[in-house]
Amino acid sequence: MQLTKAQREQFDRDGYLFFPALFSPQEIATLTDEVPHLYAQDRPENVREKQGGAVRTNFAAHLYSAPFARLARHPRMVLPVEQLFGESVYMHQFKINGKNAFDGDVWQWHQDYGTWLNDDLMPTPRAMNVAIFLDEVNEHNGPLMFIPGSHRLGVLEAGHDTTTTSYPLWTINNDNIRTMVEKAGGRDGGIVAPKGPVGSMLLFHSCLVHASSSNLSPWNRVSVYLSLCAVSNHIRRFKRVEWIAHRDFSPIECLPDDCLQQDYVVDLPWENGTPPEAARTSLERLEETA
Ligand code: SIN
Ligand code: MN
Repeated sequence: MQLTKAQREQFDRDGYLFFPALFSPQEIATLTDEVPHLYAQDRPENVREKQGGAVRTNFAAHLYSAPFARLARHPRMVLPVEQLFGESVYMHQFKINGKNAFDGDVWQWHQDYGTWLNDDLMPTPRAMNVAIFLDEVNEHNGPLMFIPGSHRLGVLEAGHDTTTTSYPLWTINNDNIRTMVEKAGGRDGGIVAPKGPVGSMLLFHSCLVHASSSNLSPWNRVSVYLSLCAVSNHIRRFKRVEWIAHRDFSPIECLPDDCLQQDYVVDLPWENGTPPEAARTSLERLEETA
């Protein structure tokens, strides 16, 4: 899949592109069927909500689940990102966010690249976020919200919030959000929340300011979030565990377009558990190689 000139311009202006129903319900079913099994596992990659124990986010399933390993190599997702960056990409982060019915907690206002710069020493924002809806996303189940155009502001000041939810996040303060929303159009488009059926895909810039409310509805809002980084822009520090910030910078090699419905063989290096070295962290900067 290639983006048109109009789509590239829209991405530059708004910081995101929305593709409703890009994957069929049959393609997505192979992923959805696997989620309860992943969430039931007792592994460090499962981060649970503060209250109730529902899984908030599961990391790195593409390294131990065949359907998600195939999704991680899907050309409908990878090719447009490679097109925008003009080079190959590797998987910087892979997560399946539960946003469970009744229990799914908030994601405060933030940018992802701030964390990748501060923690992982990723040199530039040449990394793309992709969200793929495994459930319908509607106005009630905590849709992702964006401030359109906010990616053009670059890296914004943020504070490390370690208490609001079970997952620490660099968040942007309310006054700055208010100002940005006003500038983006206030009540007339200053916040957008793309909603759509199972199989929809969002591409969004790693500096785009985003958040989501809690899910008080009776419907889960499971979405996969993949962060694809240009290979030359790989992280320069392993301050975070490997299931949160990956250390394998090999370019993603795409599978054929029908890979969610055919059992293509994929490598599952963490199938028998998380390797101990993945938990090792360091404040050292990586040696630059020529
Ligand atoms: C994220 O920002 O990484 C997740 C947001 C969400 O799941 O709503
Ligand atoms: Mn985010």
